[in-house]
Amino acid sequence: MQRWLAALLVALAPAWGCRPAPSCRPARVPPAPASPRIDATYDPSPSTVVTAMLELAEVGPDDRVLDLGSGDGRLVITAARDYGAHAVGVEIDPDLVRRSRHAIRTAGLSDRAQIVQGDLHRHPLADATVLMLFLWPSDNLRLRASILAEMPPGARVVSHDHDMDGWAADATREVASPEVLGRYGEPSTIHLWIVPADFAGCWTDADGHARLTLRQGFQVLGGRLEAADRQLRFDAGRARGASATLVARDETGAVDVRIRAQPSGLELRAESLGLDVTILTPCPSITP
Ligand SMILES: C[S@@+](CC[C@H](N)C(=O)[O-])C[C@H]1O[C@@H](n2cnc3c(N)ncnc32)[C@H](O)[C@@H]1O
Repeated sequence: MQRWLAALLVALAPAWGCRPAPSCRPARVPPAPASPRIDATYDPSPSTVVTAMLELAEVGPDDRVLDLGSGDGRLVITAARDYGAHAVGVEIDPDLVRRSRHAIRTAGLSDRAQIVQGDLHRHPLADATVLMLFLWPSDNLRLRASILAEMPPGARVVSHDHDMDGWAADATREVASPEVLGRYGEPSTIHLWIVPADFAGCWTDADGHARLTLRQGFQVLGGRLEAADRQLRFDAGRARGASATLVARDETGAVDVRIRAQPSGLELRAESLGLDVTILTPCPSITP
């Protein structure tokens, strides 16, 4: 984590003969060693950041919150105590595991909060509806593919400080409380991602009157809709979990289209084309 490392370097600066100036900051994050290992060093999120992260994810009693690298358990405990969620933390440091388990017992939260001792990169993600991260940027990137593959559409991911590189956040907030400014001297940034469904591919209705071809880059959709004797194109459709909206165009004009991933296929609505709740399924593959 660049900022922690910068803080550490600043603290050590006199011993190194280096003044606490920007030149003391590391130019880049060191490459991640092979797993299992301690990735991000322990730096507890300030309590105002903890609350802001849980608020940004809109955590509630139906959620299963997972904090990868849970430190002293503060996110797990706050999610369970103040938001009624079930919460699990994964922590590799045995001392922090002991401390956080003790804090959970003392708070009387053992029925809803749990700490697993182990490597965060080996922990399954499929059961969580909310994922909390305060790790190195390289950890976020390493986790990105598993998040998209394992977490259900609509699951929320919140990261303190670091982004997901090419996967743009759905929302970003700054936390500039006196606690944060006193600790870091600058606001903390928190990012939210909503896991999109996998929409990519060719989809058609039962009688072949509508055909939707979708390309997908994270939550951004482009492609083509052929329906009602029109050939429409779009390139900035936006997915939010299992749903997506897009504006498809041809020379005649623009059409609002909504799609939703369902167990039975892709539900399509484009009222101005006369398509009310049309179920699309994958196009039959063409065999030579
Ligand atoms: C920056 S702290 C964040 C603590 C807590 N999530 C918070 O926001 O207050 C990162 C935590 O990740 C833990 N950690 C680092 N590598 C890990 C790994 N491979 N598996 C599990 N935990 C790890 C560290 O011990 C540390 O407690």
